[in-house]
Amino acid sequence: MEDNIDLILQKSIETHNLYENEILYLLKSKDTKKICSFADIVRKKYLGDEVHLRALIEFSNYCKQNCLYCGLQRDNLKQERYRIKEQDIISLAKQAKDYGYKTVVLQSGEDIYYTVKKMAYIISEIKKLDIAITLSVGEKTFNEYKAYKQAGADRYLLRIETTDETLYNKLNPQMSFKNRIQCLENIKKLGFEVGSGILIGLPGQTLKSIAKDIVYLQSIQVDMAGIGPFIYNPDTSILSFGKINQYDNFDLSIKVMAILRLIMPDINIPATTAMETLNSNGRIIALQSGANVVMPNATEIIYRKKYQIYPGKICLNDSPIHCRACIENKIKSIGRFISQNKGFHKQSSSNVVLN
Ligand code: 5AD
Ligand code: FES
Repeated sequence: MEDNIDLILQKSIETHNLYENEILYLLKSKDTKKICSFADIVRKKYLGDEVHLRALIEFSNYCKQNCLYCGLQRDNLKQERYRIKEQDIISLAKQAKDYGYKTVVLQSGEDIYYTVKKMAYIISEIKKLDIAITLSVGEKTFNEYKAYKQAGADRYLLRIETTDETLYNKLNPQMSFKNRIQCLENIKKLGFEVGSGILIGLPGQTLKSIAKDIVYLQSIQVDMAGIGPFIYNPDTSILSFGKINQYDNFDLSIKVMAILRLIMPDINIPATTAMETLNSNGRIIALQSGANVVMPNATEIIYRKKYQIYPGKICLNDSPIHCRACIENKIKSIGRFISQNKGFHKQSSSNVVLN
């Protein structure tokens, strides 16, 4: 058993390619530490000790969708809703720039208040600050994505969540797996840097399906892959779907992230907030297991408390400047340093000319 793991890990650092059954073998292994230490070596070889920070601005928690696992689901009446006005989003981005961030991530539920015109205005104003813009606002049409790109957005995050089509369609009522795939193809076609990712430990999810998720992320050549442990939210309708999995979602997420680093040696991989929710040292463990990005919260306290996708989210009582200083200290404490550039995966893909 152990010999097999060593062989697979050795192969992965030489070829950065693994078959689905080899990935499954690693997922079943109890030796997460060993997998992570190989991922850390690959990260250091390809990306060095630089860590990219992305300022996360959670600008609206309204959502027209009803994903069973997510606290922003429209049926969650316990969730008090808010929207940040266009001008205030731009001000938050300016503040983030002043704090030294080179990228802002604009994230929200699928909120129809922000029309294409409004989004294009926000994007073009923030673009004047000479910082990179990542959008994470869900499923849109090709033409909407195109308008965002033309306004100056550089990257787009849309997690596939799971590549098990049946599971996806059950967990995301009124949405379709095929459309999700189409959205990711459109984002790629338009020249965005593509970020995607998966939830780990969803009810009904198997290790085999996670192995397929990993293969999928490699096959679409994501520029960024975010791996989040599923955290049960009692205010959602997830229990109507079925029993919660018995995995250790933190350990499994770290392992999945490490495997992604082994097979995609130079992509951007964040140490996710949900990891830190399950383990108070989660982001540092992630940074030492293949991750090279952190997305600190840059939203004001009054709003971040209401952006409760899952319970127990970290930093709810911390200001944007506090988080910025906190994460810098943590990163320096493990001998890493904060990047001074925008941290694109490939310089070229953000320069695609649209006609
Ligand atoms: N636990 C952890 N992550 C969640 N997300 C949604 N619901 C949960 C949950 N209960 C993640 C999804 C989404 C991202 C913004 O938050 O993966 O893409
Ligand atoms: Fe928010 Fe540490 S990152 S308090």
